[in-house]
Amino acid sequence: MCGIIAAASTRNVGKILVQGLHKMEYRGYDSAGIALHQENQIAHLRTLGKVSLLEEKMILEKPKSKLGIAHTRWATHGEPSEENAHPHKSNERVYIVHNGIIENYLSLKNFLAKEGYSFTSETDSELIAHLLDYFLTTNNSMLDAMYLMIEKLEGAYAIAAIDRNDKSNIVIARNKSPLLIGLGEDELLAASDPLAIGQLTNQFIFLEDGDVANISANSYQIYDSLKNQIKREISEIDISSEASSKGEYKHFMEKEIFEQPVAVLNTIDGRVGGDDVLENIFGIGSSDVFSKVKRIQIVACGTSLHAARVAANWFSAISELPTQTDYASEYRYRNPHVDEDTLFVTISQSGETADTLAALKYAKEKDFLSTLTICNVPTSTIARESEFSIFTNAGPEIGVASTKAFTTQLVALMLLALSLAKSRSRNPKLRGRVITALRQLPDIVSETLKLKDSIVKIAPEIASKDNALFLGRGIFYPIAKEGALKLKEISYIHAEAYPAGELKHGPLALIDEDMPVIALCPESEIAEKLVSNLEEVKARGGTLYVFSDPSISLELKSGKLINMPKCDFLLTPIIYTIPLQLLSYEVAMIRKTDIDQPRNLAKSVTVE
Ligand code: AGP
Repeated sequence: MCGIIAAASTRNVGKILVQGLHKMEYRGYDSAGIALHQENQIAHLRTLGKVSLLEEKMILEKPKSKLGIAHTRWATHGEPSEENAHPHKSNERVYIVHNGIIENYLSLKNFLAKEGYSFTSETDSELIAHLLDYFLTTNNSMLDAMYLMIEKLEGAYAIAAIDRNDKSNIVIARNKSPLLIGLGEDELLAASDPLAIGQLTNQFIFLEDGDVANISANSYQIYDSLKNQIKREISEIDISSEASSKGEYKHFMEKEIFEQPVAVLNTIDGRVGGDDVLENIFGIGSSDVFSKVKRIQIVACGTSLHAARVAANWFSAISELPTQTDYASEYRYRNPHVDEDTLFVTISQSGETADTLAALKYAKEKDFLSTLTICNVPTSTIARESEFSIFTNAGPEIGVASTKAFTTQLVALMLLALSLAKSRSRNPKLRGRVITALRQLPDIVSETLKLKDSIVKIAPEIASKDNALFLGRGIFYPIAKEGALKLKEISYIHAEAYPAGELKHGPLALIDEDMPVIALCPESEIAEKLVSNLEEVKARGGTLYVFSDPSISLELKSGKLINMPKCDFLLTPIIYTIPLQLLSYEVAMIRKTDIDQPRNLAKSVTVE
């Protein structure tokens, strides 16, 4: 999604800003732009498409400047185009970049039109530049104008603004859209994503909703929503360049798939001891609160919701608790009834997903026992807004398609199931069994990654098709859904998932030689039934690709049977996810799609 970077420095900032835009490319975008202060004028460059095109323009024009703002845009209002790209300007004086959505933009546009402002883009963001210009004509400082302006805005925003008449200051503001300040050496930076400036500093200040700040090369001032100057905590975070580079891999997605043994180890590390989970790993007091939990409500989006749906089975089997899962975007609108002693759980890789955050804010107003998040970004808004949390410690995930974030979410959810069971004195023997299995998990994940060669062989058969069906039963149905999501996201092949028993109730009509069927067939009490479901596919000429336990007997006329490594049944969903990730990746490689930044998608979805 959109990315903001701003810099006030004692050196030239053009390169810093473009490098920052490159670092945010993983978020997904369709155009890019920059505004650089140059004494009495502003150099304003925008391009449709990749940041490298903006870079080419910069090389031609060589603008020199010590203060500037830059942006990558992911279209919401108005198509991707150079005119709609940020920065937007007003009267050749005010230049702004904006992330978020202004909900009352129509009425504000009408107001500005009456005041004589004309619009050159179809965006909601342009009105921010005009409104600032409008207030600057009667007020001296950008800071005052910013306060007067945000009073009029409804919606979400992170804004950075510069004024042609002021070569030293950038004014920034945040509401429901992430924004932070980076403290560099002889320079101050602002960004919507710490990765954008992680090469320049390890000291960050995360702004809160309603904050406005002024930054210049050597100083910064932060004000709260009432315009009181305030201090916000400085966080030290090392964002190594290794974490945000592809290394020996062709894509971030490939790198992240192969990082899973270490990522999974990092999620478990320091959280288990002996044959049980440690106390209070979700925060001080969490074990005590867990002893009171009678029910769990989880909300999440996309891949994170698939993790929730796997975990609901674990909460039932291990913690003996009923669980409800919801799409975060739907939860608030179904008028949910909240039972006594329900724990509200969010799952989010980024911790900035607008739908999930909105559901969390809604839940905080309701009568939940407590709120807890499973998140990969400790500094994120969702992490800060939740009472309890556990960080998946997967390291930055850059590829838009979630891989290591998912498997580590599952591990963290298993730790939650174990912690709840422990606090509620349930299933000590089973807990011990799972802890042993968790310790073996990183090695089994490594073993599973060796399936790559077998998967490379079947990928061309799937890459040549337009559709695919994924089948799984029970705890494997959400894994089948995750497999289908991965395939459609990065290879643009239409893919659906079904619980295998549902086939005969309709989808069986789709089966023919052009419909590859990918099935998950672990050893389980319903394995025989699943095999019967697969026989139904075989009998209709369908091509089956089955990932199965070696003990399952199934003979295929076409397709392929791939044996999976042995693993404790409760953790098998984690293992069976991996060949599906590899398969999507290999299929997308053949179809030559933009794997790390698939069309129309964004890594962190910060609009509702
Ligand atoms: C997964 O591959 C997706 N790109 C997407 O579904 C993602 O999981 C979803 O947008 C939720 O993101 P979050 O975990 O950062 O909240």
